[in-house]
Amino acid sequence: MIKPEVVQQIQQRIDIIDVLGDFIKLKKRGTNYLGLCPFHGERTPSFTVSPVKEIYKCFGCGKSGNTITFLMEHEKFSYVEALKWLAKRYGIEIEEEFVTDEAREQYQQAESLYVVNKFAQTFYAQQLLETEEGINIAKSYLLERGFTNDLIQQFQVGYCPTSGNAFATAALAQQFSKDILLKTGMVVERNGSLVDNYRGRIIFPVTGVNGKVIGFGARVIGKADKAPKYINTPENEVYVKSKILYGLFQARQAIDKADECLLVEGYTDVTALHGAGIENAVASGGTSLTVDQLRLIKKYTDNLTIVYDGDAAGVKAALRGLGMALEERLNVRLVLIPDNEDPDSYVKKLGKEAFQQFIQTHKKDIILFQLEVLLKEAGNDLVKRNEVVNQVAESISKLSQAEDFTKMQGYVKQSAVLLKVEESDLLNLVNKIKRATAQKEQKKPTPAPDTLADITADTPETEVLSFLQENEPQQRNIIRLLLEHGQEPWGDNAKVADYIFMELDDFALESETLDAIYLKYRELHSQHLQPDTRHFLYNEGPEVAKLVSDITVFVHEVSKGWEQLMPTKDDAKQAQLQQDVVSSVHLYRLRMIKKFMKQTFVEIEQEQDEKSLNEKLLLYTELKKLERESTQILGSVIVK
Ligand code: UTP
Ligand code: MN
Repeated sequence: MIKPEVVQQIQQRIDIIDVLGDFIKLKKRGTNYLGLCPFHGERTPSFTVSPVKEIYKCFGCGKSGNTITFLMEHEKFSYVEALKWLAKRYGIEIEEEFVTDEAREQYQQAESLYVVNKFAQTFYAQQLLETEEGINIAKSYLLERGFTNDLIQQFQVGYCPTSGNAFATAALAQQFSKDILLKTGMVVERNGSLVDNYRGRIIFPVTGVNGKVIGFGARVIGKADKAPKYINTPENEVYVKSKILYGLFQARQAIDKADECLLVEGYTDVTALHGAGIENAVASGGTSLTVDQLRLIKKYTDNLTIVYDGDAAGVKAALRGLGMALEERLNVRLVLIPDNEDPDSYVKKLGKEAFQQFIQTHKKDIILFQLEVLLKEAGNDLVKRNEVVNQVAESISKLSQAEDFTKMQGYVKQSAVLLKVEESDLLNLVNKIKRATAQKEQKKPTPAPDTLADITADTPETEVLSFLQENEPQQRNIIRLLLEHGQEPWGDNAKVADYIFMELDDFALESETLDAIYLKYRELHSQHLQPDTRHFLYNEGPEVAKLVSDITVFVHEVSKGWEQLMPTKDDAKQAQLQQDVVSSVHLYRLRMIKKFMKQTFVEIEQEQDEKSLNEKLLLYTELKKLERESTQILGSVIVK
């Protein structure tokens, strides 16, 4: 935990142009700065930075945020990492605040591990590159396997001498404690003294996403006869196997650019691909994928291409992660490398272009691949074929119907053909599974269906209703008005915020995040703290900051039309703001009223008890009255 005072200190120092300027070339254009968007490929700049509002926005891809969210998005930092990065830049000392002693202890252990690992990595690299033994035994082996000096450098490859305790001795001389050294797995205790665990092995450092060394993979040189081929770091405070993808630090920018991540099995597959100029590859270490690893990938791309050996184990391993990957909404494709090859040997055989060509032409959609494998296994056995249908339906059901509807339909269509079943039957089955899972997972009862078509079906005021269709923008607009104009006068002795609260306090905003902003604003406003956009950009966490900067309008957005030509007078501006506020507030009110009316209507139809029925009828009449009020007000302000 970083102390709030320090966070504030950092925020006060932030200069958005200075920080973003590190990553993008920015040119001044009026009050704003303009550059090429780093989040999507473009030739003409549409990435706009406002030093006044301290936000950026890309008019090409829509990405927006403040300095902190930029670092989070561009550098894939966590919130705390972004703050630390800024603190370092501005020379602000961070004192961490620990909730418990245990947390402090853990943090200190982790810090020590990072320091030892860094020391070890440098030590091993020196042994490889600067000692006779290293050069003759280890480096020559690496060169033979196609490593170049550059590649060795990029992956910080090293070597641990055979002497027995070269590393242990060097580490103890640096005053590293025995406990911490044992924890890293680099040394073991024999007869009361420490000896090297990686004697005579090539060392592949494993880095976290931030580039810090968290552990090592140590490979025997040549064939592994008795000893295991690799020794890996044991789990500790910084080396958590389920969260590691080897090579991600080196591959992340390439993955971002290619919008695709290649997943291979081994250390040397990653290095070989990288050496061949295919840099968007990472390795899972030969074990099945975990949710955490999938989420790491998802930070950079939605497209995961698994490139495995064609043997049965590889195929099984690939399919094991399928359900999870689909739930994480990754587009998963599979490429099987021909028998007796692995990506390392195969890319060396084919060369870069032919290998890439091979990947492109042999990519199989993984759901369809699963279907093929299962169908082949089932043969003509009817019971088994039936099971296949169920299994495939289960996979398809994992695609969220709400977001991947077209994709799901596509799968249903293709799978139905391959399975020789009716498309509608398969779709029914998929939906049935979806419902069953939803029921299992959701303890809360699902709210009554509420599509806008339902709500508006029986109402004639079509003119007004077209404005009602867009609910989220309406809510955003209300928040924008609050943030940007909330403290401006409303009538003689109130403020815009007072009017908004008076009209909307009975209706919570439907979007949780927006409602949270609404409530926070109201709290601050009631304490006369005069909240503004800046407060929400910096004090309510990165999610709110992103949303708020997204909502905030850049000057040249509003002034596209006539406003640009005819600067409006203060009076006219005032009137326009008033109209904007009234219509925004009442459109939302009307929507909510209609929603309540609809709910009440359904309840009335089902109500058995006479007393409750009367109460509900009364409520309905009351709502009808409110509806008429709002419609009238809207009728008088919406003149467009
Ligand atoms: P491989 O046996 O395919 O190794 O195991 P490799 O990386 O391709 O190495 P080369 O090409 O023979 O030099 C794939 C991955 O499985 C893990 C490692 O992460 C390895 O990269 N593995 C394998 C171990 O952790 N321990 C082992 O003993 C073997
Ligand atoms: Mn290999």
